[in-house]
Amino acid sequence: MQDLYRRAARDIAGARHIVALTGAGISVESGIPPFRGPGGIWEKLDPMEYAHIDAFMRDPARVWRALIADMKAVLDRARPNDAHKGLVRLEQMGKLKTIITQNVDGLHQAAGSSDVIEFHGNFAWQRCLACGQRVATAELDMAEMPPRCACGGIFRPECVFFGEMIAPVNLSRSQNAAAQCDLMLVVGTSAMVQPAALMPAIARQAGATVIEINFEPTPLTGQVAHYSLLGKAGETFNAILAELAAESEAGPHAEDIR
Ligand code: OAD
Repeated sequence: MQDLYRRAARDIAGARHIVALTGAGISVESGIPPFRGPGGIWEKLDPMEYAHIDAFMRDPARVWRALIADMKAVLDRARPNDAHKGLVRLEQMGKLKTIITQNVDGLHQAAGSSDVIEFHGNFAWQRCLACGQRVATAELDMAEMPPRCACGGIFRPECVFFGEMIAPVNLSRSQNAAAQCDLMLVVGTSAMVQPAALMPAIARQAGATVIEINFEPTPLTGQVAHYSLLGKAGETFNAILAELAAESEAGPHAEDIR
């Protein structure tokens, strides 16, 4: 594993334009459960019954009670972890330019990343289905289910439900970012949901090195990814950053000495 950390550190050191694609796994160490896999939300709830726009429109109170209210409670408590902070560090080093995230938790921005494309929207805001009024999720009156606007309309989070389109600006910005990078870091995504899961293939097709960081193998492993670092995202970032620091301390001739 140490060899792979070193390889990743060298690839990062040699890169000029890094883009990251992140998924729920990057926020697991912040206390947010993933969707798939052990402890995942879709183990308990069928996504087509609770995360499809048709299910929400059919019975908003049911979806609010079973999914959205819990999500609010969990996200209220969550703070960025070492993986979010590691990406900030790569931005400060002038390497990382853009993060494409499937997450709606706002933790990349909370950590200090400046260019974050929220591919599936965000949970920080709610919009009234009747009049379009927006309110911050933090300000929402949760006494009534579903929460309602002063006009009587129902609030929905500004997240993308299954069955809805990705905002065209997010899709085109993500495709451009993927095509322009020379290194893509794919962190904590099962790569099961399209079109987000296509971004690593776009990057690879355009000539970028694709490095995956995940707790377990995914459809990208051994395929689209040039190599995969299996482990928790926060610990993996710390190991890579330690290698990067060691490389820069050792200086440009480190290779000759070893
Ligand atoms: P998933 O829940 O599908 O996948 C999470 C991935 O993170 C899995 O591959 C896990 O192995 C990995 N993982 C878990 N813990 C980890 C850790 N500590 N460190 C590193 N990796 C870890 O999440 P996404 O791929 O983001 O969409 O899911 C994509 C979309 O499906 C979500 O945006 C959401 C969901 O349904 C919508 O709601 C539209």
